[in-house]
Amino acid sequence: MTHATLTLDPAFTIGTVDPRLFGSFVEHLGRCVYTGIYEPGHPAADEHGLRRDVLELVRELGVTVVRYPGGNFVSGYRWEDGVGPERPVRLDPAWKSIETNAFGLGEFMTWTKQAGVQPMLAVNLGTRGVQEACDLLEYANHPGGTALSELRASHGSREPYGIKIWCLGNEMDGPWQTGHKTAHEYGRLAAETARAMRMIEPDLELVACGSSGAGMPTFGAWEATVLEEAYDQVDYVSLHAYYEPLNGDLQTFLASGAMMEAYIEDAIATCDHVRAKLKRDKRINLSFDEWNVWYMSRHQANPPTEWRHAPRLLEDHYNVLDAVVVGSLLIALLRHADRVKMACLAQLVNVIAPIVTEPGGRVWRQTIFHPFAQASRHGRGTVLRVEPTAPYAGDVPALHATAVQGEDGTVTLFAVNRSLTDALELHATVRAFGKPRILEHSVLSDPDFEARNTADEPDRVRPRPVGTSAIEDGVLHAMLPPASWNVIRLDTR
Ligand code: AHR
Repeated sequence: MTHATLTLDPAFTIGTVDPRLFGSFVEHLGRCVYTGIYEPGHPAADEHGLRRDVLELVRELGVTVVRYPGGNFVSGYRWEDGVGPERPVRLDPAWKSIETNAFGLGEFMTWTKQAGVQPMLAVNLGTRGVQEACDLLEYANHPGGTALSELRASHGSREPYGIKIWCLGNEMDGPWQTGHKTAHEYGRLAAETARAMRMIEPDLELVACGSSGAGMPTFGAWEATVLEEAYDQVDYVSLHAYYEPLNGDLQTFLASGAMMEAYIEDAIATCDHVRAKLKRDKRINLSFDEWNVWYMSRHQANPPTEWRHAPRLLEDHYNVLDAVVVGSLLIALLRHADRVKMACLAQLVNVIAPIVTEPGGRVWRQTIFHPFAQASRHGRGTVLRVEPTAPYAGDVPALHATAVQGEDGTVTLFAVNRSLTDALELHATVRAFGKPRILEHSVLSDPDFEARNTADEPDRVRPRPVGTSAIEDGVLHAMLPPASWNVIRLDTR
């Protein structure tokens, strides 16, 4: 057993959590849409073909905003194919799939209402440009009296959709992207698209594509060039990151949260460098609109070889360690809540997802569902500045932690023990809150790091309450098992 310490004090804060930090992502990819959120004929489907059993879990997950329709998919997408009565069947080159277009913008907007989430729409800046983005905006948001707004009304929605958050393309720095561009080409296109969209609707929130990962050779330079072109027109730069254990190195995998923090800090530095250079007051914030654990190397070793509709792609089955890493990634986001305003767990159903379905059958929660649901439920309010001290586990301190003070007088400590071998005895000084009371300490861990949830055993891995934590003389004492995700809630009233 080793020891770790930290101090919670409401005098030291980082910032307020934007609820949109708990977003997710629905892409036309594999079975995320088809047999995921949408499956006409399923016993649980409503009159729109939306699976009610999935909707119930999406609400339980606590998702606030959902990005749509891609992802790599969007860079070859014609939005017109997904509205109205004619739905052409097309090739989706991004995922070597057949797209029926049975599901499109109208169906997505109906789904967002049922799910109680805000939409975040991506426009195609790969094969398309300014005009198509403006057309989509007019179709979606203009009240009426124009060709495209009346077209929407004729498709069943007289009320405009009122979509406020728009992503200007997807991963345009990636050579795999349809219509991939240089930073300069993309920066100009993003600036001109944003300018035209704001002429239609000035108060949109616009996200420019940052790099598709911190490991991209152009990371840093890409953001700087894009922002030098588009600084005044956009509000956010995107970040994307996926983590997986490589070469069986689980200790480095558990340090993924530290890598995410370094990535965020570098992106902030780049945004602020351009701000200083252009002598602007406005700050560009971050939209971490794709993040998760993804066993990407497995997918790269087995890419699709045949054109299929809704194939099984990227269907990772997450284990205990994956959930602990997802918890740590959530901690990393919260620790930068002053600048990361939106974030999307990629993705929502079946495709690298917290929720899994069987076509025509059951739905269940993957291990990673739990840390996300707990963080979304208890991570609203003001993030406290937490600076743990702990022995090292590999190259990083064993304890990764943050805390959020809610308006209801609760303080929630989120803590991950990154050691694979040693329990951590945590001593957290909480006396700045007077005499707080422990409401709950729940732990997600398991001696079998490979344990997973399945349709037959859907609750094999979930957070379980522990009753051993205590507060004495203003210090909280808690035991954090090896490789564990911990949520400790205090009542400070
Ligand atoms: O989420 C899966 C894919 O990862 C997305 O389509 C793409 O944007 C990223 O590379």
